Amino acid sequence: MARHLITSAIPYINGIKHLGNLVGSQLPADLFARYLRGRGHEVMFICATDEHGTPAELAAAKAGKPVADYCAEMHDVQARIARGFRLSFDHFGRSSSAQNRVLTQHFAKVLADQGLIREVVEKQMYSIADGRFLPDRYIEGTCPNCGYDSARGDQCDNCTKQLDPVDLINPRSVISGSTELEMRDTKHLFLRQSAMKEKLAAWIDSKADWPVLTTSIAKKWLNDGDGLQDRGITRDLAWGVPAQFEGAPWEGMEGKVFYVWFDAPIEYIAATQEWADKTGGDWARWWRTDKGADEVTYTQFMGKDNVPFHTIGFPATILGVNQAEGEAWKLVDYIKSFNYLNYDGGQFSTSRGRGVFMDQALEILPSDYWRWWLLSHAPESSDAEFTWENFQSSVNKDLADVLGNFVSRITKFTRSKFGEALPEGGAWGEREEALLAELTARLADYERYMDEKEVRKAAAELRAIWVAGNEYLQSAAPWTVFKTDPAQAAAQARLALNLVRIYAILSAPFIPDATEIMLEAMQTEDRSWPTDLRAALTALPPGHAFTTPEVLFRKVSDEEREEWQTRFAGIRT
Ligand code: 2FM
Ligand code: ZN
Repeated sequence: MARHLITSAIPYINGIKHLGNLVGSQLPADLFARYLRGRGHEVMFICATDEHGTPAELAAAKAGKPVADYCAEMHDVQARIARGFRLSFDHFGRSSSAQNRVLTQHFAKVLADQGLIREVVEKQMYSIADGRFLPDRYIEGTCPNCGYDSARGDQCDNCTKQLDPVDLINPRSVISGSTELEMRDTKHLFLRQSAMKEKLAAWIDSKADWPVLTTSIAKKWLNDGDGLQDRGITRDLAWGVPAQFEGAPWEGMEGKVFYVWFDAPIEYIAATQEWADKTGGDWARWWRTDKGADEVTYTQFMGKDNVPFHTIGFPATILGVNQAEGEAWKLVDYIKSFNYLNYDGGQFSTSRGRGVFMDQALEILPSDYWRWWLLSHAPESSDAEFTWENFQSSVNKDLADVLGNFVSRITKFTRSKFGEALPEGGAWGEREEALLAELTARLADYERYMDEKEVRKAAAELRAIWVAGNEYLQSAAPWTVFKTDPAQAAAQARLALNLVRIYAILSAPFIPDATEIMLEAMQTEDRSWPTDLRAALTALPPGHAFTTPEVLFRKVSDEEREEWQTRFAGIRT
C-alpha cells in the first residue's frame, strides 16, 4: 500500500465552471483518486476555490456584493456542484483561508531570507478619484487599433489586440468611470526566478516520464527569450493575502497583496492544513519530507494553460524555500496536463457563456453520463470536441447498450428461470476459461493505463471489458442452453452475475453511481479489487441473493439531443 497525494488545479471563484474546465483538472484527478483508493492505497485528494485577484473583485462588484461575501457564496455553490459530479475531494478548501494567508506570508519571508526577493519600483496607473492603483483590467478606453470604445487595459475584446493601459485613448477607471488618471510610482516584490533557473532546469530534465505536453510547455518557458524572467509577486489590490505583515522583511507594502498566482498553488498545502484543522488529521505527513512525505507520490492535474505556473512558478517557490534550514516541502512528482475541450464547432467560454456549464449539465442528466463521455474523450494528445451527436452515441452505445444491457439481461434471465439468487450446478467449460483469459489480459492493461494516467486508453479498455461480458453472454446464450441443460445455464448465469460485481468495482472511478446500483443489486459490500479474477468470478456463491435493478442507463433520444442542441446553442446570460 502506497500513499498518494493528488491535487486538482483550483478553479477560480468567479462563476460556475464549464465542462471543458471540469475535464481538464477536477474530473481526471477524481478518476485517479478513486482508482487508487479502489486498489487499496491511502489517498489525500485536495481541491479548493481560487478566490483572490482582480477577476474575483470584478465579479463581486458586478454582483453588487462585498467580495468576501461573494466568495463565500460562490464557494458553497461550487462545492455543491462538485458533490453533484461526485468529485471525491478529501477537502475542498478556500484560498482565502487563514491557513493560506499564514503559509503564503511565511514562504515569502523565507524566500526573502534566502535573497530570492527583490523590490522593484514601477510606474502604474493611479486613479485619483478612486484613491488606488488600477490593475490593467480596471482600466477601459478606446482601442487604438480598432476604435472599440470599451477596450480593457490588457486587451481589446473586439479585435483581440494585446494592449498596455497607456495605449488606450481616453482611459477611464472601470470602478468610478473617472478619467482623472496618472502614472505613479509603486513598489512591488519580485521573485528572483532567474536565480533558480539551473535548479529548475535540472529538476524538469529529471522528469523523463512526464507527458510531452507538460515538459514541452515547461521547457519553452524555461528557455524563452532572455531566459527565465523574475516575476512580480505582488499587486496593488485590497483583496488577497496582505504583502505587509508582522515580521515582514520589507516596508512600505501597505495596501498591496500577493499576486493570485503566488498564493493559489500554496493553497494546495494550506487546504490540507484546513482539512487537518477540521478532522484532527496530520497534514505534515503529506507535505513535509522530514515528516514522512518523502514516501508520498504527489500527482497534479491541470489544463495546459496552468502548466507554466506549476512547472516554473510554484516549484521556484518550493525549491527556494527549501534552501532554508528547517524547511522541507514536498515537490510534485508527476504533472498530468490536458489540452482544451471545444464545444460544438467553437470554444467553451466562461466570459461569453458559451457551452454547457456544470450546473446545467446536472439539470439534464445524472453525473455518470457526463463523467463517462468526458473521461472517455479527455483532450489528452490534442484538443477534443464536444458534440451532441457524439455524446448521444457514446451514452447510448457504451452505457446503455453495452454495460446497461449486460446487467439487465443477466439479472432478468436469472430471475425468470431460477429466482433472485445465484443458481447452483454446472461447471465452467472452454468458453468460460477463454473469457477469464481475455478479462485477465484486459484487466492488466486497464490497470497499466490507469497507473499511467492514460485516461482515454483506460476508458477504452474498461469498455472492452464490458463488451467481453456482453459477447460472452451472447455466445453462451444461457436462455437457449437452459432448455436442454439447466445446470450449464446456471453456471453461466452465476459467472455473469459475479461479473456484475466485478464491473461495479472496475467502473467505480468512471461511473460511481452505477457502481452503487450494481453492488446494491448484487447485495454485496465487497469492493475489493479483483486481483485474482478466477477467485473474483466465483466470489458470490450459489444461493447468494440478488435483486434486479431498474434501468441502469437510459438512452438519449433524438428529440432530446435536438432540444439540448438548440437550448445550448446560444449564450448563457
Ligand atoms: O486556471 C485556473 O482556474 C486557476 N484558478 C488555477 C489555479 S491552480 C493552482 F495554482 F492553484
Ligand atoms: Zn480593438
